[in-house]
Parts: sequence; structure tokens; C-alpha cells
Amino acid sequence: MKYMHQTIIFIASFFLAFVSLADNTKADTPPLVRYDSIHHPTIAPNGMVVSQNKLASQVGADILKQGGNAIDAAIATAFALAVTLPRAGNLGGGGFMLVHIEETDQQFALDYRELAPELATRDMYLDDKGDVDKQKAWFTHQSAGVPGTVAGMYLAWEKWGSLKWKNLLAPAIRLADKGMVVSYDLGTNLQRRQERLSKNPITKHYLYKQDGTSYQAGDILRQRDLAKTLKRIARKGAKGFYQGKTADLIVADMQANEGLITHADLNNYKAVIREVVSGEFTVPGTEDLVDNYQIVSMPPPSSGGIHLIQMLNTLEHLPLKEQGRDTAEGIHLLVEAMRVAYADRSVHLGDPDFYDVPLEFLISEDYGKKIADGINLNQARKSSDVAPVTIAKKESPDTTHFSVVDKFGNAVANTYTLNFSYGSGIMVKGAGFLLNNEMDDFSSKPGVPNMFGLIGAEANKIEPEKRMLSSMTPTIVTKDGKLKMVIGTPGGSTIITQVFQVFLNVTEFDMGMSEAINAPRFHHQWRPDMLFTEKDAFPAETNAALEKLGHKIKVRGSGKIGRFEGVLVLPDGKLEGGADIRGDDSAEGY
Ligand code: GLY
Repeated sequence: MKYMHQTIIFIASFFLAFVSLADNTKADTPPLVRYDSIHHPTIAPNGMVVSQNKLASQVGADILKQGGNAIDAAIATAFALAVTLPRAGNLGGGGFMLVHIEETDQQFALDYRELAPELATRDMYLDDKGDVDKQKAWFTHQSAGVPGTVAGMYLAWEKWGSLKWKNLLAPAIRLADKGMVVSYDLGTNLQRRQERLSKNPITKHYLYKQDGTSYQAGDILRQRDLAKTLKRIARKGAKGFYQGKTADLIVADMQANEGLITHADLNNYKAVIREVVSGEFTVPGTEDLVDNYQIVSMPPPSSGGIHLIQMLNTLEHLPLKEQGRDTAEGIHLLVEAMRVAYADRSVHLGDPDFYDVPLEFLISEDYGKKIADGINLNQARKSSDVAPVTIAKKESPDTTHFSVVDKFGNAVANTYTLNFSYGSGIMVKGAGFLLNNEMDDFSSKPGVPNMFGLIGAEANKIEPEKRMLSSMTPTIVTKDGKLKMVIGTPGGSTIITQVFQVFLNVTEFDMGMSEAINAPRFHHQWRPDMLFTEKDAFPAETNAALEKLGHKIKVRGSGKIGRFEGVLVLPDGKLEGGADIRGDDSAEGY
């Protein structure tokens, strides 16, 4: 009897195990959060905000606790970061927000990228010899595109917000007006940038002490003019920025410094909602289990979504899992996929309102397979041998990202930027915020690399009212119509390859979000023909094996290859927030 009982249990468990495999629970069974990992995650049942700054994450989490949804929390976090993370959080920049509505499994791509002023011209940064004048392109009032952040946040609120607009700005106003404790990250960063930022007297006045010294960790930084600007936005919505006093201050600053942005440019700026780009990823070898993920990401004028999906389509046909995550052979596969994607980026990507981007072709499964077929598992190709694909036509890395999930399963992945760390380094007199230098993301001279070493072509030339190409890749992953991941990172040209790696860490290597984010990262962008790795990312023998495969390795300082913020929905529905350990990033849940 006893024996029979055990036999029944045995048969039942075997049957259950079989059913659970067939039932596609494979991806939900691994120890997604490993206790013996040094990366202990933040886990919470109701909501999660992960950003590059603790104060800003707390602001977002408080909004969720007050009953706000993910979009409310994202808007409040974005305005808080404009105060607490001046190098990338911003009012004077732009970016992209991806919104996921759980109830209907719909995603929306909100484009609030800066655009070129009406007076911009194709060759505006070329000197008498026809070379790019980097000082002019990077550090002058002419470096700034028309800012999009406030219009983007306001449109997000009009479409999906549920709390009062002014309540979403209140925490940022408080932090700017009453002051905040300077973090180690901010104090160190301001010190490092002192020489560049002090060149502009207005920036020196706002971001450094009256005696000219730098704020240190533990000091209090108050930003009263910024608080006044935020109050105008709180009272009047987007008009509080694009019209009235704030607009007058921007235009006066432009006119006094040969800048191009006019009242008309500000008035005409519009954030737009675009169709997302999406693809499917099936973990190779699990086709029978239908272990597939829907990846939804940013369309042009960001190149991020297209090339993320292109690289994943390639990886579906390559034996990454067998080769291993940290092995030379595994890294080699990813690098070869990156090489082709960035070659294509150099020619085919630009603002879709001005240029016919071959989106369907680049994200097609067939093209991914073709790229995979061209990859030699035992030998790196030279970038000079990889040309951008010919398509027959019908005739800074100091951006910042945050991820938010609310108790309904709605989510926001938001990446926004000033381009360089602190953008142009120029603050608007009287308004207290930094101007971007996003114009450098255009190809100032087709074929000549920009600050990130990225090469662009005609598709991304400067034209009035055109949006410059971006790499920002805020991404949402769903599985069976339910939210699974919210991911993204800053890092200029490295953004796309970081999202690619963290996604694969979770889906192919069964890591939790924190572990996936904190694993070593690397980057290749076709040109320069160089494999960039974080310091001490891989043991000497792995580096030697990579070099034997034909890769040239260059080490980049820690934190120079992305600062990742993500949320993973765990099998029991709880949320795991993963904040990058490369800074004082923070996940706040409740
Ligand atoms: N400024 C960096 C990017 O937009 O990709």
C-alpha cells in the first residue's frame, strides 16, 4: 500500500514535471535571485522605481504609494532627476519614453527628442577647411537642439496621467528650493568636471560655491532659479517652459551668445507618439516550450529598438548558451552581431520624418538569419570587411534611464539626456538649467565620427526641425501578454549593446535582474574595430582567447559602458528592481 502510494506520488510528480515543461514554465523556474550572489536585489509586491539617484527613486516610489500610476511616477522621477542628477536629468534636453499598459497589453513610444532649430544648416559646424569645429559643435549655444523634455512629460501626463500635474512637480520643486544633500556621486562628478563647467560663468554660479570651490558629498545644494522654473511649469504646464518667462530667458541667452533657438522654435516644438518597434525572441533550443519573449522598443529617430531586435534576430540562430556567457566563444558571437548592426546604423538610420528608414528590412527574421549565417564561429571579421547592407529601395555617454512599474502592471521605460555629461555645460541665465549639446548626434560631416565615435551619413545630416539620431533604447519585454521586464541604460553608443546583453543574461542565462545588470559588460560598434570591455571584466585567459579569435581589446573605465536600471517581474508576480552597482543608483519598491 505504502509502496503503491509512493509509486503514485512518483508517477504524479513525473507527470507534473512533464506538464510543467510542456506548459512553458521553464523560464520561471530557475533561481532568479541567488542568495549567494553579491548582488542582492530589491523586491517589492506593489511597485518599483529604479533610477540613477536615490532621492529621485524615492520621489517616484512616493507617487506610487499615493495611488499614482507608473506614468505619474515616471514624470515625477524625471523632474526630480532634473534637480538631483544635473549631468543627465534635465529640463533642457530630450529623450524617449516607452509606456506599457498592462490591461490591454499595449505599448506606446513617446518621442520627445530635441530637434534642430529653424536656423540650423547642414554645414554649420564646419570650419574654413571643411573640418568639424568640435568646440562649436559641443560647447556653445549653437550645440543645443530645441529641448523636448517638458513637452514630453506634459504629453505623457495628458495621455495617461492620473494625479494632478502640479503634484508631480512638487517633490522636484522642494528638492531644488529647500536644497538637497549632495551625494558622493554628485560631489565627485562636479569636482571632476569643474574646469569645463566653470568656463561658463552662469554654470559656475549655479553649480559651484560662491568661493569657486566644488560642492562635496554631504553639502547642501540649493537651486532656487531652477525651482522657480519648475514652479512656472507646475502652474502652466508645458507653456510654463515653451512660452512666457522661461522662453524669454532661453531666447535672451541665445541672442546674447550667438545661439539659434528662437521663440518660434520653442512654440513649435511638439512631442510625438510613434508606433513602437517590436520583435520576438525565442531562446534557442526551447522552441518546443514556446519560451518566447516579445520585445518592444524605441523606433527612429532612435536607432536603439531596430538594432536591438536585429541583433536578437541574429542571436536566435547562434549557439550562445552552449558557448557560455563569459567565454571568449560566447562573447565573440555577440560582438559579431554588434559589428553588423552598427555598420548598418552608420548608413540607414535617421529621423523618419525626413528619411525613409528601412525598418522592416532591418528587423526582419530573414535578415537576422542571413547575418548569423555570415558569422564565423572561430574567427573575428575585420570591420573593414563588413560593409553596411545595401538595401534596394523602391525607387554621452551621460544620458540617464529609469524604469517604473506600478501595482497594475503598467510600466514606463524612460531614457533622457543632455548628450554629454552636463550637455553643453551652459546654463540658462535666470532659469537655472543646463542646455543640451545634442546637435552633435547629427552627422556634422557625413563619414566623420561624432563624440561617441559613431559614423553617420546623409540620413542623419543636419536639417531644420529635424530630430538627430539617437541610440537610446528604453525597452519593455512581455511574455504571454504580461509584463516581464522594463530595461534601459545611458551610455551613448553603448546603450544598444548593453540592453542586448542584459536581456540575454535574463532570458538565456536565467539571471535575476540585479545579477544580470551587474555582470561584466562589453561593447563593439563596428568602427573603431575594437572590443571595449570593462576593467577586469574577464580573466586574462578569456582575453587571450578573444585575441586569438581576432578581436582587439580595449579596456574602458568602470561605469563607462552603461549604468543600467531594470525591473523584472518574478514568477510569483513580485517585482525585482535591479540598480547598477557602478554608481549610487537605487531601486525603491513598496
Ligand atoms: N546622446 C546620446 C543618444 O541620444 O544616443
